[in-house]
Amino acid sequence: MRPNCYVVVPAAGSGKRMGAAVPKQYLTLAGKPVLQHTLERLLAVEEIRHVMVALAADDGRWLQLPAASHPRILTTVGGAERADSVLAGLHALEEIAQDQDWVLVHDAARPCLKPDDVIRLLGHLMDDPVGGILALPSVDTLKQVEGDAILGTLDRTTVWRALTPQMFRYRLLRDALEQALKAGQVITDESNALEYAGYRPRIVEGSPDNIKITRPEDLPLAEFYLGQRS
Ligand code: C5P
Repeated sequence: MRPNCYVVVPAAGSGKRMGAAVPKQYLTLAGKPVLQHTLERLLAVEEIRHVMVALAADDGRWLQLPAASHPRILTTVGGAERADSVLAGLHALEEIAQDQDWVLVHDAARPCLKPDDVIRLLGHLMDDPVGGILALPSVDTLKQVEGDAILGTLDRTTVWRALTPQMFRYRLLRDALEQALKAGQVITDESNALEYAGYRPRIVEGSPDNIKITRPEDLPLAEFYLGQRS
């Protein structure tokens, strides 16, 4: 039997780095909230059965989003860090997801995701026992630094930038995240938890326009990328 595909979207962040009063997933981008764009991109992929959105406990904006009433969208309450929010989303899928099903974790703050990239990721990894991530090769020369001093130059052919979605078998990801958090590891993406558990997730080349809205200047850039496609 073919495994089912689910998505977890951590959307419980406060977006401190943006310096805005509104969390970044609710900033307006080309006429609608960032999170609405992100969810529309994911819902465009037919293979995805449900999208579980992890929201902040005090989120007062969610219900105004058109996506809030979509039959394939589910919600739960996130946690203190991104990894806690992802884990909350995984636990909320417990009743419907099987151990071998796929879970794609995608940041709420990446609204320029191309549905074709998701389909390519699924195609590459569908038969893999573990999973992998969308990533980008480094175009810049990368420096190892301490304070403001350069210690050395990294071999850029061996360094990639991790994007999302990151796609893993449901049970493997849940166990790996639980173990890593219990051990007090700082986990900044899902792959990190799998690596910590001894696995070697695969990389699938993504698109440079799959940016994460992090700083104020990212918004006009995201608007430009979205405009190019419509
Ligand atoms: O802050 P950062 O850019 O790492 O956030 C990445 C994603 O994780 C965002 O979509 C944000 O809403 C989410 N997040 C979360 N719960 C947290 C912190 C971040 O769901 N406690």
